[in-house]
Amino acid sequence: MSTITHTSTAVVDSLWLENRRGGSNLGIGERRPRISWTLSADDHVESVELQLTREDGCIEQHTTPGGSNRLVPWPFAPLASRETVILRLRPTASSGAADAEWNSGIEIEAGLLDRSEWTVPFVAPSVTAPQGELRPGYLVRAEWDNSSLGIAPGDVAKARIYSTAHGVYELELNGAPVSEDLLSPGWTSYSHRLRYQTYDVTEAIRSGRNAIGVWVADGWYRGRIGFEGGLWDVYGDDVSVLVQLEVTLHSGSVISVPLADSWRWVTAPITEAGLYEGENYDARLLPTGWSEVGFDDAGWESPQVLDLAAFPAELEPPTGPAVRVTETLRPLSIEAIDGNRIRLDFGQNIAGKLRIRVAGPAGQVVSLHHAEVLEDGALGVRPLRSAVSIDRYTLAGGGLEQWTPRFTLHGFRYAELENWPGGIDTVDVEALVVHTDLERTGWFDSSHPGLNRLHENVVWSMRDNFVDLPTDCPQRDERLGWTGDIQVFTPTALRLFGAHGTLGGWLRDVAYEQADQGHVPNFVPWIECGFPNHPTAAWGDAAVIVPWEMYRHDGDTRVLTDQYVSMRAWVDLVDDLTRHTGLWDEGFQLGDWLDPAAPPESPGDSQTDKYLVATAYHVRTARILAETATILGKSADAAHYRAVAERATRAFQAEFIAPNGRVVSDTVTAIAVALVFDLFATPEQSARSGDRLLQLVAAGDFHISTGFVGTPIICDALVKAGGLDAAYHLLLQEELPSWLYPVTMGATTIWERWDSMLPDGSVNPGDMTSFNHYALGAVADFMHRVVAGLDSAEPGFRSLRIAPRPGGGLTRASASHLTPWGMASSRWHRDGARFSLDVQVPAGCTATVVLPGVDTVHSVGAGAHSFAIDFREAADDPKKPAFRRW
Ligand code: BGC
Repeated sequence: MSTITHTSTAVVDSLWLENRRGGSNLGIGERRPRISWTLSADDHVESVELQLTREDGCIEQHTTPGGSNRLVPWPFAPLASRETVILRLRPTASSGAADAEWNSGIEIEAGLLDRSEWTVPFVAPSVTAPQGELRPGYLVRAEWDNSSLGIAPGDVAKARIYSTAHGVYELELNGAPVSEDLLSPGWTSYSHRLRYQTYDVTEAIRSGRNAIGVWVADGWYRGRIGFEGGLWDVYGDDVSVLVQLEVTLHSGSVISVPLADSWRWVTAPITEAGLYEGENYDARLLPTGWSEVGFDDAGWESPQVLDLAAFPAELEPPTGPAVRVTETLRPLSIEAIDGNRIRLDFGQNIAGKLRIRVAGPAGQVVSLHHAEVLEDGALGVRPLRSAVSIDRYTLAGGGLEQWTPRFTLHGFRYAELENWPGGIDTVDVEALVVHTDLERTGWFDSSHPGLNRLHENVVWSMRDNFVDLPTDCPQRDERLGWTGDIQVFTPTALRLFGAHGTLGGWLRDVAYEQADQGHVPNFVPWIECGFPNHPTAAWGDAAVIVPWEMYRHDGDTRVLTDQYVSMRAWVDLVDDLTRHTGLWDEGFQLGDWLDPAAPPESPGDSQTDKYLVATAYHVRTARILAETATILGKSADAAHYRAVAERATRAFQAEFIAPNGRVVSDTVTAIAVALVFDLFATPEQSARSGDRLLQLVAAGDFHISTGFVGTPIICDALVKAGGLDAAYHLLLQEELPSWLYPVTMGATTIWERWDSMLPDGSVNPGDMTSFNHYALGAVADFMHRVVAGLDSAEPGFRSLRIAPRPGGGLTRASASHLTPWGMASSRWHRDGARFSLDVQVPAGCTATVVLPGVDTVHSVGAGAHSFAIDFREAADDPKKPAFRRW
């Protein structure tokens, strides 16, 4: 009997390529992008048909078994440069009713996949960097005539701009902005790779004459970056743009619009622009209509032409989303203060800039000052160090003017407007929140408002610090890709946002900088601005741990393959540094950076032995590498790195663990590291140390005593030691130092230090006092994984482990995560002695559900499931200290 194939009732929820869920597929860099999708339900889906429609109308079709909807290899002929295709799906089932429709599909277009396809040079308004001063921005323009290129109205099938810059740039076409992207092309190790953008301008070009304009300024390429005064001109002396404009006709022919002779430039109304300093803009200097046809550019100069061949950096499409305005905030309060100033409070610490609407006399200069906090009744600007963060707008006069700076960014909650003409209303000024436009993927909620605010602060600090690359802070003269910060934060980052593309791109720079420096530098891209350029544990280990956590999160081994050389080079280097003994016991280390007991002026002076941390990390990354080698089928490497890890483990035990299990550096961080990294020789040692950890945490009255290394793992260590209750005590502690102390002080982001603001409202006197660093917010991962209990049982979330650990007097907690398979959630609440749990398992996935206080494990499939049991938590015990109930 033959089987009749019927279509499925399942519909395609989403369809994406590589890790670009929800993102654009224009100008992609892969010839064979892998395909993923989620279905509304997967029951009875026997197969899925994939259909590709090429530009010439040819259709290719392929069938793949149902259930394999993740990273399916491209089954069609590879994409050619510039090729546009439509991909559609249709699930089919072995039983069911009516024929399903093809889903609406996605349009995919390849970028310029081969460097030889770049046919234009860089055009440079500036080839010599002015010294000793902030540099201006430039306007660069060109015109062309479609008719003289033989392009008749109605001929144009599509028009694209492929563009990038040495500097930061924005495009206009016929007087209108081409995109909402900001600070393009972002910051990469420019000597190795420079990203280009692809813009669809089909609708914007006109028949006949057209004009294109570019705003460009120093940015990271030539502007001042780094602390201790920073460095200028790190990547070159020129500010230049590379703009290749192509028109594809319905006939299929591609015309590269020759702009070369037409380019002209002039200094922009941006009279000064610095990422740290701010922007000065004189609106009187804007040449009206400069990016429109027919503008008289007499007096504008011809730019220098710089041969592309002189710049060997690879030209690559971005792997993650662009930086954009993702939200606008109105001031919560507007207050006139002394000194001809108006103070604004936006109620939220952000990375961004102001947009003002102002009317006044020509030539009046309004200054916009920014700060994260107030101190002594004034903007607290000392923590900004040399990032003065002042924008200045000179009015053109004659009506209402609107302005926002283009090429700068500030970290602020408060702003002051100086010399504002006339009255002001909340509609006259808004704060634009600016960061990489990542897709949100993780949510947490509970009955504890303080905990919820802490989580919200983590979300904000992630947003504010993913500005093209993962940075340490958005406000002072750093904003650098510190490796240690993202090393500890990656699991949280991937819970909260779809950051794979951004991190994958950054890891390419890690590998390049590592090859240049001979080790993984402490921030990437690396610049020589005075920080010790030495291999450092927990920071350099990012080269191994970040790709590993990415793999664990989405189950995709590609990142391991791509980063393998870099991962191995780091472990080999540390193995060499230990003279193959496994004990890392000399050289520069940051240790448990920002241990609260360290003096403000010496944040590296932690109580925990730095070399204990270094050796422990060596074990951890060698083990990860051995496992990576196994996954990638490199068995000889796997055996080698198992031996390296084994040696380092023995060295750790010999040096740092007494036979009775006592850890030599008798600190919370030291024991937490040993427990969580599994460094004890025997279960007895581990149990003994677990007890000691509980003692130490209780003796510290459940205050935080850990820095960058200990903090992300302390709650897991306590749980492992059988101290769930202690973990909750620590998590819900409000006295200084604790996670919630900043919340009680009104924090809206995660602070760099536990006491960035002291209880009397003054700012910590240390040099390192940011109010927006995500590292200590790495505890959010624990909140999702343990408090709400939503975890993956294996890399990639296909099999979930849902095991909430209620405690702390919380009456409910929930976490949701948009996994690669769809939305998963765990939601519990307590009503007296009754504990109820609702879980959501995405289509195609399974889950084991472990209820608190009982041994029974439930195995469930896709869909919604509910459970209820009787349960009492430790805090219900009247003999235990009570938690504050909110
Ligand atoms: C950064 C940190 C970084 C640290 C290491 C600081 O200035 O802001 O987050 O990891 O230096 O030294």
